Amino acid sequence: MTITDVGMASDMTTQEDPRAEVERLRREVARHDHLYYVLDRPEVPDSEYDRLFRRLRDLEAAHPDLADPTSPTHRVGGRPLAAFRAVTHARRMLSLDNTYDPGEVREFDARVRKLLGPGVAFGYFVDPKVDGVACSLRYERGALVLAATRGDGVAGDDITANVRTVRDVPLRLHGAAPEVFEVRGEVFLPRATFARINEQRLREGDEPFQNPRNACAGTLKLLDSRLVARRGLRFLPHGMGEVVGLEVPSYSALLERCRAFGFATNPHGRACRDIDEVLAYLAEFEQRRAGLPYEVDGAVIKVDDYALVERLGTTSHHPRGMIAYKYAAEQATTRLAGLEVGVGKTGTLTPVALLEPVRLAGTTVSRASLHNYDEVQRKDIRVGDLVVVEKAGEIIPYVVRSLPEQRTGQEAPITPPAACPSCGTPPARRDGEVAVFCPNRACPDVVRGLVRYFAGRRAMDIEGLGEKLVDQLVERGLVRSVADLYRLTEADLLGLERMGKRSAQNLLAGVAASKGRGLARLLNALSIPGLGETTARDLADRAGDLAALQGKDAPTLEAELKLGPVLAREVAAWLADPENQRSLEALRAVGVDMTQPRAAAPAGGAAKLAGKTFVITGTLPRRSRDEAQAAIEAAGGKVTGSVSRKTDYLVAGEKAGSKLTKAQELGVPVLDEDALDALLQG
Ligand code: IVH
Repeated sequence: MTITDVGMASDMTTQEDPRAEVERLRREVARHDHLYYVLDRPEVPDSEYDRLFRRLRDLEAAHPDLADPTSPTHRVGGRPLAAFRAVTHARRMLSLDNTYDPGEVREFDARVRKLLGPGVAFGYFVDPKVDGVACSLRYERGALVLAATRGDGVAGDDITANVRTVRDVPLRLHGAAPEVFEVRGEVFLPRATFARINEQRLREGDEPFQNPRNACAGTLKLLDSRLVARRGLRFLPHGMGEVVGLEVPSYSALLERCRAFGFATNPHGRACRDIDEVLAYLAEFEQRRAGLPYEVDGAVIKVDDYALVERLGTTSHHPRGMIAYKYAAEQATTRLAGLEVGVGKTGTLTPVALLEPVRLAGTTVSRASLHNYDEVQRKDIRVGDLVVVEKAGEIIPYVVRSLPEQRTGQEAPITPPAACPSCGTPPARRDGEVAVFCPNRACPDVVRGLVRYFAGRRAMDIEGLGEKLVDQLVERGLVRSVADLYRLTEADLLGLERMGKRSAQNLLAGVAASKGRGLARLLNALSIPGLGETTARDLADRAGDLAALQGKDAPTLEAELKLGPVLAREVAAWLADPENQRSLEALRAVGVDMTQPRAAAPAGGAAKLAGKTFVITGTLPRRSRDEAQAAIEAAGGKVTGSVSRKTDYLVAGEKAGSKLTKAQELGVPVLDEDALDALLQG
């Protein structure tokens, strides 16, 4: 026998048939997902996980007949939907009666006792009320077949594709599964994830979300589940819908079942013997909740025994056996002393309240968002008013309402300004939009915003061109459009503050290097309405060349490049605008690359971090984690999700948790953002 023969013979004996291998891989990947996301106790290094995942993905691609929507490969999202399908709930999704008053919690207990009659012993379960979006998950014979929003309680939207990307929702129940298992719970966004998303939105000129719940709701409404997958939603169960083939006698039994099926459950839930214990726990939990990684607006008090809950029945909207106790949001009252108008890169004029400084939830607040002029009018907020401010998501303060009863008559109504504060042009309103905007394309604030964004790290990434420098260039009239950046000369720059020959040359080199960033970054950099970083990248991949977009009307863009109708219209309108066309021609003339390279070659020449594996954790001072990842990858490095012996560096920011501990245990070098920068710069 030759050596090759031996090899072949042994291959034949160990060869697994594709179906068996796919099934085995699905089980393994799902198990590692559970270990990592639910139990926070990974067993294999990321490289091993990646290898299993890739093998599974490749096998599924080669054997479309083995497709299964519960395969863990669906976690990354699938093709965008045109719309959500409406689905009727098997059992109605009710809402909860609520109170802010501990006295009313006692009244609730008295009511329950009276309804149940004397001699019925029962306990309560107190569960944190996580501030997110209610969702019903339906499993049939163990497979997740449907995820739906509450809607009006009778019917909701089918958001299955989006919910499949939520990492702690099992796609298959673990162990023996009943015929039907419907679990209801809260989809939510942890605070840190919310902060990261908002930072990114601000940088990209998008309006930030008001709080994690809004961000969560907005995310679940996205039709493209691949975008949802990147947002980092989580799920915690808090109730039951239709269940066939399984006895669940109580809420605490439900939670136990959920854990056995592979869900995470809230560790702060507590069984209480009577209402005194309930009230004591409510007080204890109030202290604890600020330290939780997600927002909790109260607690839900539930009669634990489901037979009794059933007996208590429901009002038209609420089950009588439960009540939500809400903690009052942190608010403060102060005077709205003045007003500032911000001008965004799209020209949008945003009112910002200048407040008499006041302490609120641990910080001093002197500015607060008023969102837009319609909202100001609706809430009748005036300059000089006493106003109530609240920390939305306990992060960004905003004005909740004014106290008109305290008025002296000296207060001034707030109306959109008659002139843009930056250039004096009378503002305009776009059809169907509430925002007022400055229509002047040469408005210094608009140009500043556009150029800052164009030069930014996520766009053309022009090294050495920070915001202060952009401001100077625009102020001195050296830059009136993004194309002007490429016409700057050393002599132009030498006239600027703190600009020596050396830095001028470096900046010019940075500007020149940015010409080769490619179409994806260019499309993002141009601030085309509706076209964010991700959609820009997808569009660039499909188009290959800017020329493939130019001169096309919306229906053609929709058909040829698979844009949604709204985005197609925005892109077509932007490209048809003569001024934008001139700007693109100018960029082309100076040699900006308008094509998309096929293979992603590491930017910046030498791959400084080739072969190095990084993990990023915590909040970095300057970059979001996505940005740090992009910078590492651009330098040829790899970023993975969990720390193992194979990790070369952990990049750790503020509030780093278990990953930092693990890195320290394993002796993995830990970098802060400055150290990362040093590494990136070689
Ligand atoms: S029990 C009949 N438990 O709060 C509804 N709800 O204000 C039973 N929520 O629609 C819900 N955490 O979306 C329950 N631990 C928890 C909860 C919770 C958050 C939400 C849920 C519900 C809303 C009612």
